Amino acid sequence: MLTPGKNSVTPDWMPVPAEVRMHTDRFSLDSSFAVSIEGAATDRLSRACVRLMRRVSDRTGLFFQRESATGALPLSAPGMTVAAQREGRVSLGEDESYSLEISAQGIRLSAVTDIGCLRGMETLFQLLDADADPEGSGYGFPCLTVRDKPRFPWRGLLIDVSRHFMPADVILRNLDGMAAVKLNVLHWHLSDDQGFRVETRSFPKLHGLGSDGFYYSQEEIRGIIAYAADRGIRVVPEFDMPGHVTSWLAGYPELTHRPGPFRIERRWGVWSSAMDPTRKSTYRFLERFIAEMTGLFPDEYFHIGGDEVEGKPWMEDPDIRAYMKKHGLPDAAALQTHFTLRVQKILASHDRKMIGWDEILTPGLQSGAVIQSWRGRESLVEAVSRGMSAILSNGYYIDLVQPAAFHYSNDPLTPDMNLSEAEAANVLGGEATMWAELVTPETVDSRIWPRTAAIAERLWSPADIRDPEDMHRRLRSVSLMLEQAGLTHIRNRGVMMRRLAAGTDTGPLEILLSAVEPVKNYRRHSMRPFTTFSPLTCVADASVPDAEKARRFNTLVESLLSGAGGSSEAEPVRRQLILWRDNHEAMLPLIRRSPILAEIESLSEDLSRAAEIGLQALDFRASGRTPESVWTNEVRTRLESMAEPRAEVELVILDAIRKLASQQ
Ligand code: ACM
Repeated sequence: MLTPGKNSVTPDWMPVPAEVRMHTDRFSLDSSFAVSIEGAATDRLSRACVRLMRRVSDRTGLFFQRESATGALPLSAPGMTVAAQREGRVSLGEDESYSLEISAQGIRLSAVTDIGCLRGMETLFQLLDADADPEGSGYGFPCLTVRDKPRFPWRGLLIDVSRHFMPADVILRNLDGMAAVKLNVLHWHLSDDQGFRVETRSFPKLHGLGSDGFYYSQEEIRGIIAYAADRGIRVVPEFDMPGHVTSWLAGYPELTHRPGPFRIERRWGVWSSAMDPTRKSTYRFLERFIAEMTGLFPDEYFHIGGDEVEGKPWMEDPDIRAYMKKHGLPDAAALQTHFTLRVQKILASHDRKMIGWDEILTPGLQSGAVIQSWRGRESLVEAVSRGMSAILSNGYYIDLVQPAAFHYSNDPLTPDMNLSEAEAANVLGGEATMWAELVTPETVDSRIWPRTAAIAERLWSPADIRDPEDMHRRLRSVSLMLEQAGLTHIRNRGVMMRRLAAGTDTGPLEILLSAVEPVKNYRRHSMRPFTTFSPLTCVADASVPDAEKARRFNTLVESLLSGAGGSSEAEPVRRQLILWRDNHEAMLPLIRRSPILAEIESLSEDLSRAAEIGLQALDFRASGRTPESVWTNEVRTRLESMAEPRAEVELVILDAIRKLASQQ
């Protein structure tokens, strides 16, 4: 057993490998560096080697003499050997393990499958660093031995393209991000009330009348699936049914028992339209539809949704009630199970296994299904105790804009679940869910990344890799690496702030946003009447879920108050507070020029005032004086009033300032 992280330097990698032994030496890079493939030289592996060389060359500025992988390495050239025993299948449970050995003389990456080699290349790339005291180019890799494999076989990211359509390039760049942190399932939420996004030849009015023209052609879909497969990533399509189907009904109102006509839904929320599970024609439709879609999507799993079906409209229909009576179906849940089992049978006839949200886990559900637990973890435990498989999404809802540490601490498999070995093996992993009510192609990356890298680590690394501070330290580097991989979570903030500031200096806005986060959970929906047409270009959209400067400030204040770090934190805390205190004056001209910012004027003023309180508290502390209780009480009241969100963002440094003010 090798020991994880046991050395003077812990690399800024994510996910942390299962077993690591750091050595002392370095492998130095120079332009003679080359890669050689041994064993199964698959096309996927060759392309991955080319991409790796390009990425290393882009980072280092080295003009490699050899651009791509060759046969045997020339004896004189230090380089890397990549060896896979066989081509991997892009399917659940495929071997993704690898070993990586870096010595001063060379690098050897070996794996059972070429997909394992791909995972190892991502580890290697994250190790690329600069030597403070270089002999050669200055770039290289630390010498080490890694033996790595995933903890869970299903490590996914759901992207909802129904609520806001995400063009192919958004999906492709996110696949690169997923590959970089070893996620292996793209769960593609392709239809919902607000849009049906797939070109469908058997029923052309699905995309024709259900998408406003925003859908993927089949050729595009094949391209995306191939791109994903080239990175060892499965693509699981989801067509949500029997609820969440308003966009289907725009073209095919006969799928439901209720009178039409229907139009694409423009509002958010849970709507009551549902397929009629009692009509033969519904299943004939689904048979043809599934036949076509299973021809397009090769994965052995097919997601049928099944969430949030409102039973009342079914129960109000006399024909449906009569059908239920005849078939001995006591309630709407039993009727939905009846539907689910019929669809499961259709899927089985096309060699597909069914996956659905946890609502499908009713007493009548038979084995063979995968349950995706989103309303809690209870369904996960119930599913595996009934011999089914399950994945966890509860706690991984990244659209709730919770901090990375919150998701990081959420483990799909904990000892208190008291599962047998066989049951635990059926906990396949988890998925982050990027629901798209409040994101656009411009902002979606900033809601997925970098937090999803922390979830990826939870799903790949050993359970005892879980220190949140260390995670945050590494996440900073990983976030930049993800940007270099093509993601726009950092750079688009600049674009958005320039638009908000109407072309003026964005500095003050950036300082203000460093102290705020968007309101959490689904609170934003209660603050304005959002629809599919609402602008998502406001201050809340340019702010991020895990404001890094605010988080660091809060940590410094904690440390200052606990006395853990002596008083060395007082200076950086003071500097930050001065910056925030003086910012409102700089914000005012921006707000005058750019009316879109008017909604944050009082928030900006409050940031200045809160910072002033913090500075006064620091002065009390430095002078050893105790403030009068009048001051303490007044400050508490004022800070409380500043906690009120504005423009759907809130100041996230108030708690730290309250503690500073009260713990003199
Ligand atoms: C869901 O969030 N309705 C699965």
